[in-house]
Amino acid sequence: MPQLIAPEARHLPSFIAALKEGYSRDTQRPETPQSIALVEADPTAFLKSQLEPPTTVVLPDGSMGQAVPHTVLWWAEGDEFLGSVHVRHGLNEILAQVGGHVGYAMRPSVHGRGHASAALAAGLAWTRANLSLQRVLLTVNSENLASIRVIEKNGGVFDKAIEHIWRPGETALHYWIDLQGRGAPSGHGPAAGHP
Ligand SMILES: CC(C)(COP(=O)(O)OP(=O)(O)OC[C@H]1O[C@@H](n2cnc3c(N)ncnc32)[C@H](O)[C@@H]1OP(=O)(O)O)[C@@H](O)C(=O)NCCC(=O)NCCS
Repeated sequence: MPQLIAPEARHLPSFIAALKEGYSRDTQRPETPQSIALVEADPTAFLKSQLEPPTTVVLPDGSMGQAVPHTVLWWAEGDEFLGSVHVRHGLNEILAQVGGHVGYAMRPSVHGRGHASAALAAGLAWTRANLSLQRVLLTVNSENLASIRVIEKNGGVFDKAIEHIWRPGETALHYWIDLQGRGAPSGHGPAAGHP
């Protein structure tokens, strides 16, 4: 059964295969041969960057931004990497518009099997257990119908639609999920303790 865990070296070969398959760490940008080569060149440094995420981030427009503290969790079964859940511990001005508290992505070969729904449920349980957030913001492109469904299945309540700050002409939807009273989802234990 898949679990949401802190990244481990044993998942790296499968993680790299997922990158080559079309999985991207950033839902706003696809990976490139160069970005994948960087991971392959120094997997140990890459793993460290997942466990101790940097405090700066390259924004979609190429500028440098300040990253809020965040935790990278991998949805994995055995040694197989299936996808990721990124939990931001707070919001800044940009994340309050696009990004929100929780982001997730599954590798293409496992889409449509319920993995994102289960991984988000586990990510919400992890957030409830490890952070003092009462509710979390999730943002999603209005055309991403699968992700909207995943959010709604996890109790997301629509708040508003805004113009996408990185993609002119596109719309970002805001959903909030209340963490109060949420129990651990059945069948998926909370993540490994990596706050
Ligand atoms: C969006 C994404 C995470 C979904 O992952 P997944 O593992 O396929 O999702 P699940 O299988 O858990 O659930 C998908 C749901 O959307 C539904 N769905 C899929 N395509 C759909 C469509 N075109 N219209 C409406 N519903 C759709 C599925 O039927 C399923 O709902 P159901 O369980 O009620 O049948 C995956 O496509 C992905 O990683 N995309 C790239 C990154 C991304 O967009 N991340 C989210 C950013 S907000």
